Amino acid sequence: MNTIGSELRLTLFGASHGPCVGAVLDGVPPGMAIDIGRVQNEVDLRRPSPGIGTPRAEVDKVEVVSGVMEGRSTGAPITLMVVNRDTDSSKYERFKNVPRPGHADLTARSKYSECTDLRGGGQFSGRMTVALVAAGAIAKMLLEERGVRVSAYTRQIGKVVDEEERSASEAVLSRSNEVRAATPELADRMRQEILDASKDGDSVGGVVECIVDGLPMGLGEPFFDTVEGELAKMMFSVPGVKGVEFGSGFRAASMRGSQHNDPFVLVDGKVRTAKNDAGGILGGITNGMPVVFRVAIKPTASIAKGQRSLDLESGQQTELKIEGRHDPCIAPRAVPAVEAGAALILADLIIRGGVID
Ligand SMILES: Cc1cc2nc3c(=O)[nH]c(=O)nc-3n(C[C@H](O)[C@H](O)[C@H](O)COP(=O)(O)O)c2cc1C
Repeated sequence: MNTIGSELRLTLFGASHGPCVGAVLDGVPPGMAIDIGRVQNEVDLRRPSPGIGTPRAEVDKVEVVSGVMEGRSTGAPITLMVVNRDTDSSKYERFKNVPRPGHADLTARSKYSECTDLRGGGQFSGRMTVALVAAGAIAKMLLEERGVRVSAYTRQIGKVVDEEERSASEAVLSRSNEVRAATPELADRMRQEILDASKDGDSVGGVVECIVDGLPMGLGEPFFDTVEGELAKMMFSVPGVKGVEFGSGFRAASMRGSQHNDPFVLVDGKVRTAKNDAGGILGGITNGMPVVFRVAIKPTASIAKGQRSLDLESGQQTELKIEGRHDPCIAPRAVPAVEAGAALILADLIIRGGVID
């Protein structure tokens, strides 16, 4: 499926080295103010930074093709498009026969035959997230009108871990540095971790944490469309994501109930919890606390270091050294994609929950 969502439906189209990538967002209520400058700002946050991102230099100008007139949504599907300009497909021909370890070349070929478009990773490329981020900016506007804020930041790059519990406001501060760390000191150490991997012709993974505050109690559609389930599905659609955990996540397995249970308290007349090991979700339903989740992102598959692969025609083992332009670390550029994905899912759940007509 290239479509996700129930009442607010997102379809992505295009490919990394095709003419464009884009998004169709259906279900945006009519009359909503759409700030295209804001959409562009979000997309710009995803652009690579010199040294720690791919040298592929895309302008990433968002064009609105339908669904917005005089700064407001018309109720028709909103189509957003970003033209691909800086494509160099010369390095990708070989991967049809010698698939990149860790990338989707082999599985794409087995599913779609040799007609599959592997140029720049085709539809499996991180490039698709430019359209996700553009559509997510509109979902963010819809949420912000209702006091909901979605903010993500880089929590870990390789061995450099941010050990502090962060607020949504601290996550927003990460917009001031290119690795999207919560503090300048962490940003320096994380940048160095990426540069060290890159110098070795290698790559490094990371963790992105997302905090959503202002959500009402009661969102989520049990049994199967729980808030965790819907968010996790979206997060696993972001290329390179290998794990998602909510609240204390996997740490919960080593805790006792007396530690993990969040005591209920009254704050300004509202039922809240004294801490948030549940990550803002109980029974698949939001409990009025911030929804907090973390996304584990693998080290980039395409590395310059020699790797073992197979020549599929001859069946011979062969060494692959990947040329071309790649991100030595995906995590910083995935931060806007995580925010966008979360915003789209939560906006859909808000509409489904009847909070918006
Ligand atoms: C923003 C972003 C940028 C990415 N850049 C690269 C890249 O330069 N090289 C690469 O091999 N993979 C990159 N990826 C990840 C691949 O697209 C992904 O690993 C691949 O499609 C296989 O999918 P999987 O890792 O989810 O199994 C990027 C992902 C994102 C979200």
